[in-house]
Amino acid sequence: MQVDSRTIETMRKAAAKAAKNAYAPYSRFPVGATVLTSHGEIFAGCNVENASYGLTICAERNAVFQAVAAGKPQIRAIVVVTSSDIPSSPCGACRQVLSEFGRDIEVISFSDRGKVLRAQVSDLLPKPFGHEDLAT
Ligand code: THU
Repeated sequence: MQVDSRTIETMRKAAAKAAKNAYAPYSRFPVGATVLTSHGEIFAGCNVENASYGLTICAERNAVFQAVAAGKPQIRAIVVVTSSDIPSSPCGACRQVLSEFGRDIEVISFSDRGKVLRAQVSDLLPKPFGHEDLAT
């Protein structure tokens, strides 16, 4: 079942708030994300950069890890908010991490200009590496 528009709006606002806490002195590209669990809780994350650039964590993974750390890895949807012209789709690493927790997770990205992009993790990453690949 698709997430209702009221919940998405709540998630969008919380993600926009998290984006204000982004630590992005290098890219100056703040990102906020929120995940919705099947229990109805919302967890937020922002991107956190590092002077050693490769250690940067994206907002999406940060939000997923917050949910997992709280013992709620049953993720239904993720909302991503940026202040760019076009909505940002999660990067490859974040798609792989999302797919670990559900290939049917809804992904809804908002730009500041009110543009929206909707997809499912399985659309964004059709052939992920998964637990079945570890079978020996
Ligand atoms: N970033 C995210 O937080 N999520 C994405 O899906 C793509 C990129 C962050 C990483 C970095 O801090 C900045 O945006 C520019 O790449």
